[in-house]
Amino acid sequence: MIITFLGHSAVLIEAAGAKLLIDPFLDENPLAAARSTELDPDYILLTHAHGDHVGDTVAIATRSGAKLLAPVEIVRYLAKRGVDGIGMNIGGARSFPFGTVRFTPAWHSSSFDDGTYGGMPTGVVLEAEGKRIYHAGDTALFGDMQLIGSPGLDLAFLPIGGNFTMDPSDAAAAARLLSPTRVVPIHYDTFPPIRQDPEAFLRLLQEDGESEGLALRPGERVEL
Ligand code: NI
Ligand code: MN
Repeated sequence: MIITFLGHSAVLIEAAGAKLLIDPFLDENPLAAARSTELDPDYILLTHAHGDHVGDTVAIATRSGAKLLAPVEIVRYLAKRGVDGIGMNIGGARSFPFGTVRFTPAWHSSSFDDGTYGGMPTGVVLEAEGKRIYHAGDTALFGDMQLIGSPGLDLAFLPIGGNFTMDPSDAAAAARLLSPTRVVPIHYDTFPPIRQDPEAFLRLLQEDGESEGLALRPGERVEL
């Protein structure tokens, strides 16, 4: 499995012959490692309806035919813009040829830029090739992360930007609850209110000694 961090919360996962793109906010992110036109995913997964997560979903999906997996309100809204999708919801899992996708709770909000309700915000757990990956989406720290981590996690993407989500200190507490083998910080530095030092976050993880921190720069990948 090859996992590429594309910047902000955007992640490309290549697993079991499928390409999964999560939260593709690219063309309006000057720090993004790819343009929307360069990507040809089989599936697009959205954690919630905010613009810095929906990003270029419509352009990519309508060009590539990628199937959208997202909370049902998001799938219904984007269907009107020509996107083909499968509506899911928190706690729901579904099997695909590449593995299983499960939507988990996230403490946040979810609406489109025009104010339309986007359903509940979510995180995503992907099981593929015998690995278990968690993308937390945008969220506050919450105790049930322990339940998400209890079957074991090989990798967790956790927001550290603060202001809208967990900051490094809360994300380190989240890592203690989730106890993943590795943690990749996301959702920082894109805008002034979420400037953070990822090295400070890695130091907090190191003090705990449970999870290895990997501060991937946009475009960097990790192989599992
Ligand atoms: Ni958000
Ligand atoms: Mn966000």
